[in-house]
Amino acid sequence: MIPRDFIDQLLSRVDIVDVIDRRVPLKKAGQNYQACCPFHSEKSPSFTVSPTKQFYHCFGCGAHGSAIGFLMEYGGLPFIDAVKSLADEVGLKVPEDASFQHKPKTGPDLTETMLKAAVFYKEQLKSSPRAIEYLKKRGLTGQIAARFGLGYAPAQSTALKQIFDNYDAPELAAAGLVIDGDRGRYDRFRDRIMFPIRNTKGQVIAFGGRILDQGEPKYLNSPETPIFHKGSETYGLFEGRQSIREAGMALVVEGYMDVVALSQFDINYAVATLGTATTPIHARTLLRQTDKLYYCFDGDNAGRKAAWRALENTLEALTDGKEVAFLFLPEGEDPDTWVRANGKEAFENFLRREAVPLSAFLVREISRDINLATEEGKARMLKEATPLLQKIAAPLFSALIQRQLGETIGMRPNEVNALINPAVKRKWQKNESRPTSPGRTQPSICRVMARALMLRPELAKQVDPRQLPSGDANAQLLGQLSGWLGHLPNMPQPAGILEAARGMEFEQAVAALLSEVIDLSESWEPEAEFNGGLDQLNAAWKRRRHEELSRVPLDQLNPDEREELQSLLRN
Ligand code: UTP
Ligand code: MN
Repeated sequence: MIPRDFIDQLLSRVDIVDVIDRRVPLKKAGQNYQACCPFHSEKSPSFTVSPTKQFYHCFGCGAHGSAIGFLMEYGGLPFIDAVKSLADEVGLKVPEDASFQHKPKTGPDLTETMLKAAVFYKEQLKSSPRAIEYLKKRGLTGQIAARFGLGYAPAQSTALKQIFDNYDAPELAAAGLVIDGDRGRYDRFRDRIMFPIRNTKGQVIAFGGRILDQGEPKYLNSPETPIFHKGSETYGLFEGRQSIREAGMALVVEGYMDVVALSQFDINYAVATLGTATTPIHARTLLRQTDKLYYCFDGDNAGRKAAWRALENTLEALTDGKEVAFLFLPEGEDPDTWVRANGKEAFENFLRREAVPLSAFLVREISRDINLATEEGKARMLKEATPLLQKIAAPLFSALIQRQLGETIGMRPNEVNALINPAVKRKWQKNESRPTSPGRTQPSICRVMARALMLRPELAKQVDPRQLPSGDANAQLLGQLSGWLGHLPNMPQPAGILEAARGMEFEQAVAALLSEVIDLSESWEPEAEFNGGLDQLNAAWKRRRHEELSRVPLDQLNPDEREELQSLLRN
C-alpha cells in the first residue's frame, strides 16, 4: 500500500499537462489545454486538461482523472505501476516501507488476494494433464491460455491452503474464494477450468470456473464482492482493449469461451457479459471505447429476447455518431462453434453483411405480431415505440428511427413525429437544457459549496452538518465530503482529492465535481462562494429552527431551547 502522503507529494511534483502532452499533444485553449480525446474517437477536441487543478476531463466521453489516472487509462497500467512510472519521471522513490500500515477504509486489499489465487490456479493448470487435455480438445493453444491467464482449480476441497498461510482469514471469504459451510471452510472452485475476470486496470477481480465434464452448474462464478459487480464488468475488455481501438469496434458475446475461442482465431475485439443481461453500464463503458458496437446472440427465441434487453439498455447510452448492430447466429451455434467451423474471414464477413442495425432491429421487433394494415395496428406500434424513443439521448438517431417507423407504417416522418412528439420533445428539451458546463443553470447552494471544497478542502471543517437541508442529494453529498475532508490529516490538492477518494463511495461524485470546476474561470473565488453558501445555509437553518421551536408550546421547551429561540428572535 502506497501511503497517501506520497501520492500527494508525487502529484505536487508532476505536471499533468507535461505528462499528457508527451503522449497526446495538447493545445492551449483559454486557461486549459485541449486535444482530441484519446479515449474515444472525435473530430473536435473535448478532452480538457487543467494545469491549475492538475486534472483532466473529457466533455465528450466523461473520461477523467489525475496524472496517475491518466497513465492507468492510457497505458492500461495498474495503479501501482502508474505511480512508479510517474515517480521515475520526477526522480522520486516509491516508499516500500512496510511500517506504513495504511489500510484503505474498504478493508484488506482483495485484489492482492485474488491475484495470488490467479497465479496459483495458473500454476496448477501446468500440472493437470486432464485440464490441459480439455483446453486442447476445445482447440485452445498455450498462447491463448496465457493471454487470458487461464488456470485450473484442483479437486481438493481446501487446495488454497497451499498458498494462504491463514486459510481462515476473513478476506478469503470476502473475495469469494471460499465458502463457509456447516462442516467448515472449503474452496469455492474445485476441479474447474478457471477464467480470471480482470477489470480495465488489469486487476483480477473475479473468476468464472467451468466444469471439465458434464455437471451442474456448468459455470460457477465469483459472487458479488466489494471489488466485483457483475453488472458493470465485461470479460475480456482488459485483454482486448487495444484491439478494440485498432479495429474500431467491439463485439459483445455471451460466454467466456466465445471470447477466448474468437481470440484463438485472431479476433481480439470480443468481450462477454458475465452471465447477465447487458446493462446500461456495460453499454456505456463499451461505447466509451469505440464507436461501433456489435452484439452477437443466438438466433433462437431466447437469443432474440436477450438482444431486445440489450437494445433497451443501450438506448440510453447511445449518442449520435455511434453505431450499434445485432448479429444473430444460426440456432444452436455460438461464436465459438461458428468461428471454429468457418474461420476468421467468414466470421468477419458474416458480421459485416448480416448484422442488423439497432434502428432496424427496433422497428422490426415492435412491428412483430402487429397488423400494420390497420389504423389500430399503426397506433399500437407508435405507442410501443414512444417510451423507447424517449430513452434515446441522441437527437439524430431518434430522428432516423422515426423515419424508419414512418416507412414501415406508411406515414411521413413529420406525421410520426407529431404523434409521438409531445412526450419525446419534452425529454429532448430536458436533455438540451442539462448543463454541459457549470454555470448555465443555477446550481444548488450545496453543489456550489461542494465544488468550492474541491479547490479549498480546508474549508470543510466549517460545514455544520445539522444545518444541511434533509432530502437534498447535494446537501447529503456536501455533508459526506465535508465530514471526510475535515478528517484528512493533511489537505490534498484537487487531483489529490480524487486519488484520496479512490475506492470510496463518493469517488464518482468527486470526479463529477472536479469536472465541473475544470472550466470555471480563474476569477471564480472558491472561498467567497463557499462562505456565501454557508451564510445562506445558516440563515435557512435558523428559519427552519425558528419555525420548529415556535410550534412547540413555550412551557414544553427546555431551558436550552428557550434560550435558542430567544436568540433566534433577536436576529
Ligand atoms: P453458455 O451455456 O452459452 O456456455 O453460457 P458457453 O459460453 O457456450 O460455454 P461452453 O462453450 O459450453 O463452454 C454463456 C455464459 O453464461 C454464463 C457464463 O458466463 C457463460 O460464459 N453461465 C452459463 C453461467 O454463469 N453459469 C452457467 O451455469 C452457465
Ligand atoms: Mn459454447
